[in-house]
Amino acid sequence: MDKTNINEQAVLLATQPVPQHVAVIMDGNGRWAKSRGLPRVAGHRKGVERVRDMVTACVEKGVQYLTLFAFSSENWRRPMQEVQLLMELFLTALDNEVKKLHKNNVRFRVIGDTERFGEKITSRILQAETLTRDNTAMTLIIAANYGGRWDIAQACAELARRAMSGEIDPQSITEESLEPFLSLAGVPEPDLFIRSGGEQRVSNFLLWQLAYTEMYFTPVLWPEFDRTQFEQALVSYAGRQRRFGLTGEQIETARHA
Ligand code: IPE
Ligand code: IPE
Ligand code: MG
Repeated sequence: MDKTNINEQAVLLATQPVPQHVAVIMDGNGRWAKSRGLPRVAGHRKGVERVRDMVTACVEKGVQYLTLFAFSSENWRRPMQEVQLLMELFLTALDNEVKKLHKNNVRFRVIGDTERFGEKITSRILQAETLTRDNTAMTLIIAANYGGRWDIAQACAELARRAMSGEIDPQSITEESLEPFLSLAGVPEPDLFIRSGGEQRVSNFLLWQLAYTEMYFTPVLWPEFDRTQFEQALVSYAGRQRRFGLTGEQIETARHA
């Protein structure tokens, strides 16, 4: 792609008032439950309700992709009982929510190393993805057993396999060569990243894809991250100037051209 095209693309992204892709770390379920004297899983259950709200809000606002971090590759380190309950919740949510998503014309996808979840969950995921594959209102992507480093490493492994078989010349590998093998291949990079729960870190979420994403951190715990909270994040996003390395003047000139 030549320089003019890259600039045009940057300006296009910089001037869109609504993010095309929102990526969320839904954090704070455990603390929310604890503060009410409830078991941690009660917070996770409440969290599922907020997911429902988010999907509805995104469809209404015209956000095309919503990627939610549901379980990280590091979350296996939690007490076995919590991991077990999270898996059960995931399974129940798959059973209960997918029909509704389909009815609302939402496409459902899962990214991450899902093999480790076992047959029952992986087959449900496949069913859900197949059922909703042609839906067009928006795409909901759940990151489960996902890690940003895992994603980059598995894409590199695929590139290496192709280089070994002679399909790809290692000399010609560029940043763009990796993209088709990443979990979010073909999906525009997130415009807005939201993390609830007060921590200001990425926790091994979409490392590659967040390179130019606008970051929004809020102390609000995920079970309380309602529509109003989301709207505040969208307002914050709309008020920013994304520059992608250009100058503010270049963006402004293009905006008024
Ligand atoms: C996020 O909430 C959900 C998952 C990681 C599955 P947490 O469970 O991390 O909640 P806190 O951070 O302990 O409050
Ligand atoms: C990140 O939250 C993962 C998910 C929300 C699924 P964590 O609660 O696991 O992150 P850390 O451990 O505080 O960084
Ligand atoms: Mg947490």
